[in-house]
Amino acid sequence: KSKLPLFGKQVLVTAGPTYEAIDPVRFIGNHSSGKMGFALADELASLGADVTLVAGPTAQVCKYQSIKRINVTSAENMLQECLSYFPAADACVMCAAVADYTPVVVADQKIKKHDEGLNIELKKTTDILKTLGNQKRDGQVLVGFALETENEEEYAIAKLQKKNLDLIVLNSLNDAGAGFKNDTNKVTLIDRQLQKTTYALKDKAEVAHDICIKLTQLLKQ
Ligand code: C5P
Repeated sequence: KSKLPLFGKQVLVTAGPTYEAIDPVRFIGNHSSGKMGFALADELASLGADVTLVAGPTAQVCKYQSIKRINVTSAENMLQECLSYFPAADACVMCAAVADYTPVVVADQKIKKHDEGLNIELKKTTDILKTLGNQKRDGQVLVGFALETENEEEYAIAKLQKKNLDLIVLNSLNDAGAGFKNDTNKVTLIDRQLQKTTYALKDKAEVAHDICIKLTQLLKQ
């Protein structure tokens, strides 16, 4: 086991969507299945890493018992868990589709329906990845994801720089079979030197393998 490439490395992974409560029975969410993040957690564990997986609501299960899974619901819950595990992490892979907005107030009773429309006031959530990027110390490797529909590479590079990342995984919704609910994904990896590698459409487990090879190289630098 000690011969595995990521033996002894602490890796923090986020996966899945977050749910932002409107009232006791309703929420704002998104279509993230959690598949990519769980595939990454499994691959990292198989390479010997100590994996902490902070997961939003998802039906996915981990392949390995050794993965420490922490279930969260909201963006705020996910942020707090990430902040507590980040200092000890050698690498972080932020795969979660965190909600960008959350209701300003959460009604404590079910909101009754009326004849008129309904406005829900939203506020921005904290960008977890950017927060960790600001706290990053030498040697820590931070990986983010970008799902874009236009100007993909330009936006991905802007995110890499703005959030102080070491690697960004770009998946385009323009590619058939890539993105949210599929079992396959097609990615381009871009590092800080703006070195770019585009991979073929593959199973998410294989995509996770490609990302982990690059992550292992970055951890060695
Ligand atoms: O800026 P954008 O949401 O497109 O960035 C996507 C990347 O940032 C993903 O890696 C995602 O997990 C992360 N993110 C986050 N917290 C947020 C929003 C995005 O960690 N509130």
